[in-house]
Amino acid sequence: MALPTFLFQALLLLLTAFIAPIQAAAKASSGCGKAPQRVTAASGTTTPLTTTVNSKKREYFVKLPASYNNTHPYRLVFTLHALQGTASQVINGQGGYIPWYGLPPLSAKTTAASSGTPDDSIFVAPNGLNNGWANTAGEDVTFIRTVMSEVEADLCVDQTRRFSTGFSYGAAMSYALACGLGKDIRAVAALSGNPQISGCASPASEPVAYYGQHGVADTVLPIDGGREMRDRFVRNNGCDMDKTKVVKEPVKGSGQGRTKTVYEGCKEGKPVVWVAFDGPHTPTPTEGGEKDSWVPEETWEFFRQFQ
Ligand SMILES: *[C@@H]1O[C@H](CO)[C@@H](O)[C@H](O)[C@H]1NC(C)=O
Repeated sequence: MALPTFLFQALLLLLTAFIAPIQAAAKASSGCGKAPQRVTAASGTTTPLTTTVNSKKREYFVKLPASYNNTHPYRLVFTLHALQGTASQVINGQGGYIPWYGLPPLSAKTTAASSGTPDDSIFVAPNGLNNGWANTAGEDVTFIRTVMSEVEADLCVDQTRRFSTGFSYGAAMSYALACGLGKDIRAVAALSGNPQISGCASPASEPVAYYGQHGVADTVLPIDGGREMRDRFVRNNGCDMDKTKVVKEPVKGSGQGRTKTVYEGCKEGKPVVWVAFDGPHTPTPTEGGEKDSWVPEETWEFFRQFQ
């Protein structure tokens, strides 16, 4: 019996609307099954947790999911501020940010593809030193590693699903984390970054799933730097340039909006995506006269595929 055309089309639409999940067995952290001792509701708003790294006092905020379940291993998502920015701006959506880069509402709606059960995330907003991420001698990578171990001892985290995103210096630091953490971070999303300012410490050559975006009219951190960061992970991830259909970047001032290249033939579970947009140095580009930025959706589409 032939399927009615409309049903067939609806099915096709459903199939193409979702990226196939990339599965890995969850690795539950030591905080699973325990009542949190350090993280409270206030840790995600007004009262940061503190730690000492390299003899320096450091701060980070931790946002619990709406109904935290200490036996569910959650994603851990770092949201890093830009130069002269603060974690509080990221949290409160001040200084040009959407709160937590707009990800918590999308995360809250996410369900696990395998079971259909709720699959939310724990978000962390750390403060850089001197409002930046110079990562001198790797001290910021060490700081993020320390935060991971502290949070994961207190809360239930899936240690195979750690992510980082950020704009500008926060993108440079997300790139530095991909370089420095290798297999200990699943994916990063770098929004208008640069490969020099936070550096790329060893191992540097490990594959890490990578999403990069950049404005073609960026005069603060020109797009060349964004391409250079992307190309490291195109190489590390073994993507196949012969198979990849590179989509032309939009022309400056064309009003064309964004273009997107999905690299082909990358190592299993190590995709690379590149989005170029006709716009300046901004974490919230928009297009087509829309009020809201497309960035949260693009970022979340990239992160949520890792299960
Ligand atoms: C808590 O999480 C576990 C593991 O994912 C799940 O089996 C359980 O149903 C959840 N409990 C509630 C009350 O949602």
